[in-house]
Amino acid sequence: MTLEQDVARHYATRTILSQIEAALKSKGADLDRLTVDDLKPVDEFHTGGIEATSALLDQLDFTPDMTVLDIGAGLGGTARHIVHRYGARVTGIDLTPDFVEAGRELSRRLHLEERIELAVASALDLPQQDSSIHLAVMIHVGMNIADKTRLFVEVARVLRDGGHFALFDVMAGENGEDLVFPLPWSSSSDTSHVAAPGVYRRAAHEVGLVQIAERDRTTFARDYFDRVRRKIAADGPPPLGIHLLMGDTAGTKIDNYVTNLAAGRIAPYEMIFKKPAS
Ligand SMILES: C[S@@+](CC[C@H](N)C(=O)[O-])C[C@H]1O[C@@H](n2cnc3c(N)ncnc32)[C@H](O)[C@@H]1O
Repeated sequence: MTLEQDVARHYATRTILSQIEAALKSKGADLDRLTVDDLKPVDEFHTGGIEATSALLDQLDFTPDMTVLDIGAGLGGTARHIVHRYGARVTGIDLTPDFVEAGRELSRRLHLEERIELAVASALDLPQQDSSIHLAVMIHVGMNIADKTRLFVEVARVLRDGGHFALFDVMAGENGEDLVFPLPWSSSSDTSHVAAPGVYRRAAHEVGLVQIAERDRTTFARDYFDRVRRKIAADGPPPLGIHLLMGDTAGTKIDNYVTNLAAGRIAPYEMIFKKPAS
């Protein structure tokens, strides 16, 4: 089996749509009048959820005629947020068919399907034409990609001159100890390819992308998980959350993430790159 097949198998969640519907119903949501915000607890599958998405995207300029590519779009939550908030047109690609199918249905229910296309594809072999994308976004995907250079080659190929690549990934921290598994993106080291920030910077440099921003989000992530834990201690676990995307071991995966973060083995980083005019 290839790494990509193993990764898709890790995330496979056949019943995700019915689980989301059941959780929404138990919260009292009206399934016929769903809003983009109703889905935020589950469709932003990364550290800090929608807070982190907004913090990354608010550093960028959007116009409604922009073409945006969300690489590893998962359920399409970030793509729907971009369409809803900034009015751009978004294509999301992802390796995991269950996420793509559920994401299409969720977009349809929100009447956003005309501005969002979700497709099964690999970040390492993007279906987009050369120089066709104004902005590529990638949130918590690089941890599953061994060949970062190939990823950056593909992104640089599809970006237009002057286009941007904004990413938010879990990267290697200063403490070089082995990670404790299972983690949300991988049950073992076989499918985990967490790399140091320098690996990303070098890969970008090799393909001619210029870095324009970078932020270590460790403090934000620690604070975020403290807040989540306090809320769960006070109110109990929420029915709708990213735990639905992590199977039976969701609790252990989140605990291990927090342990690795506290030990400095991982560090969530934002980076933004620009493709210069040729
Ligand atoms: C942790 S989830 C994040 C999903 C989404 N970006 C979000 O923040 O909600 C990681 C996603 O990356 C996808 N993925 C991993 N490796 C990929 C690759 N090589 N090409 C495309 N998608 C990939 C997985 O299928 C999964 O949906």
